[in-house]
Amino acid sequence: MFNKLKEAADFLIDRVGEIDVAIITGTGIDVKIKGELIGNASYSSIPNMPTPSTKSHKGYFSFLKKGNLKIAIAYGRFHYYEKYTMQEVVFLPRVLGLAGAKLVILTNAAGGLNPFFKKGDLMIVRDHINMMGANPLKGDNIDELGEKFPDMSEPYSKKYIDRIKRVALSLGIDLKEGVYVGVAGPSMETPAETRFFRLIGGDAIGMSTVPEVIALNHMGIKPVAISIITNVNRPDCMEPAPIDAVIEAASKASDKLSLILDKFLEEGL
Ligand code: HPA
Repeated sequence: MFNKLKEAADFLIDRVGEIDVAIITGTGIDVKIKGELIGNASYSSIPNMPTPSTKSHKGYFSFLKKGNLKIAIAYGRFHYYEKYTMQEVVFLPRVLGLAGAKLVILTNAAGGLNPFFKKGDLMIVRDHINMMGANPLKGDNIDELGEKFPDMSEPYSKKYIDRIKRVALSLGIDLKEGVYVGVAGPSMETPAETRFFRLIGGDAIGMSTVPEVIALNHMGIKPVAISIITNVNRPDCMEPAPIDAVIEAASKASDKLSLILDKFLEEGL
């Protein structure tokens, strides 16, 4: 597996050189960062790389120069609810880490569990609970990437969380903070599950991000993650959250997410 990852990462490095920051976009999310476009590459052109099977995940990279940062934006990710194994789900963040990314910014569409959240809110992830019933590090350890039992006492970079919160405040954009619960999906939660996930400490819930965060911590890379709250789930008055409505809400809130990330990246790492 390591050789496959390395081959994909070397392909990217040959194209654009080592990257500094990577952004992975979630369902319906379109991240726009101002900078000089230095290249594009479809996932299908990259050796060993899976290709997304969901319509809202496009499957290509854009490479930008912004100040002295080289940024890779990965439009589209791989989910466990698709046909992929956990190894395939974390292929993308691992390749980005091997291609040099010192910071990986994960974005996702999520359901709100915190009753104070509303549709369209942004939430920076402080911590997570893995309820996927699977872990990408199960099985033989890839020693070249990291240790078998990585520490998870600070799974998300406190330093960058603080900086992003400051940037959001300076832009007058409300940025919530909370705990993300990762579930396997693809079925949405029942009312009883929703009550349970709130009770155990969840503020938002979604079907991605957690395996990527585990794989990045394994490599010694502390990510940040920002959720767009596309629907709010209240156990006593649950409303359907059809996928088209999730995609539409994520798309609508993408501009304010882009504003925050653009200003944050303008300051450098
Ligand atoms: N549950 C799980 N995943 C989601 C949701 C939800 O309510 N909304 C967007 N992704």
